[in-house]
Amino acid sequence: MEFIPLSVPSIQGNEKKYINECLDTEWVSSAGKYVDLFEEKIAEYTGAKYAIAVVNGTAALHIALIVAGVKPDDEVIVPTITFISPINVVKYCNADPIFMDADDYYNIDVEKTIEFIREATIFKNGFTYNKKTNKRISAIIPVHIFGNACYLDDLIDLCKKRNIKIIEDASESLGTSYTDGKYKGKHTGTLGDLGCLSFNGNKIITCGGGGMILTDNQKYANKVRYLTTQAKDDPVKYIHHEIGYNYRLTNIQAAMGVGQLEKLPEYLKIKKTNYLKYKQAIKLTRGVKLSDTPEYAESNYWMYCLQIDAKVYGKDRDELMSYLESEKIQSRPIWFLNHLQKPYNNYQTYKLERCYQLVERTLNIPASVNLSQEQQEYVIGVLKNGQK
Ligand SMILES: Cc1ncc(COP(=O)(O)O)c(C=O)c1O
Repeated sequence: MEFIPLSVPSIQGNEKKYINECLDTEWVSSAGKYVDLFEEKIAEYTGAKYAIAVVNGTAALHIALIVAGVKPDDEVIVPTITFISPINVVKYCNADPIFMDADDYYNIDVEKTIEFIREATIFKNGFTYNKKTNKRISAIIPVHIFGNACYLDDLIDLCKKRNIKIIEDASESLGTSYTDGKYKGKHTGTLGDLGCLSFNGNKIITCGGGGMILTDNQKYANKVRYLTTQAKDDPVKYIHHEIGYNYRLTNIQAAMGVGQLEKLPEYLKIKKTNYLKYKQAIKLTRGVKLSDTPEYAESNYWMYCLQIDAKVYGKDRDELMSYLESEKIQSRPIWFLNHLQKPYNNYQTYKLERCYQLVERTLNIPASVNLSQEQQEYVIGVLKNGQK
């Protein structure tokens, strides 16, 4: 068996044709038909009123925080379980993170977050302040981890009352939508004040690198366009009234995105089929199982989480990872907890518990859309044989 990677892109559609068109027409930079088309198609697909294409998901989050009004010395609530990008952008704004625990779906623990806002903050002069630091809490970034939708109904109500802006990080959850609750039928990334997507190489669809900001608010959308194109007030005379950024997506990358987006419905089906197959088969091996996805949403099943009970299985996470590696299967632990990372180990945390167990017992296993049936059966067999 050839080495089986964790997650690689599949580029089998019209991507090359569209990219060649950019090259042939010499529309290669950060404007052009495909940038407009990609934005229109993402807006249409997600149901967002406005979609603005940017260079990557991190840039999307950075600009979303600025536009939402996050100022130096503010605080922003974030989950400790996530890729580090949504934490770093808080510091890009010279604000501080407050770290929250995770729920069973690896998402921010919404109940504890609500408890934190109710008990540990006060509302005065139209803003929410942290009782401990006296700093203003201006935003929260719920991250829809591995494609699992965060349940936001109650949090949105509270944040509206408390003037805390919600920036959804939907980098991993394009294609995920709610099937229950107040936001039934809506896509992740379209509930909060602003939502962010990533089209990095490991995401469900990719532009090589790319991102998108979603919003229903026209003022925010205009500001995003302005700031991501160097804040040009007069493009001919080079007049700039604010500090802008060179954050727009190129036509070439957008062309790839349009080609990939055409494949998304097919990819979603494959991801779900493979998830269900893994789930059924893996549960026959004692000590390992695939994590559940939320019952209130239709997930995009972007990444699969294998949960290991080391005592029952006979190998812990790291032992299993080495064993899989020796059998030519790539697996990976989930992210090192962000409140323990060197730049962030002095910031406030709130009742962190579940996050530790989740990290300790989870491995991501091969999830590419081009994972063959034979490869998947091989992974299942290796996992079964690995039990002591
Ligand atoms: C949850 C999350 N947020 C943000 C990002 C950043 O996106 P990008 O790599 O496009 O900057 C990623 C992935 O890369 C991610 O997984």
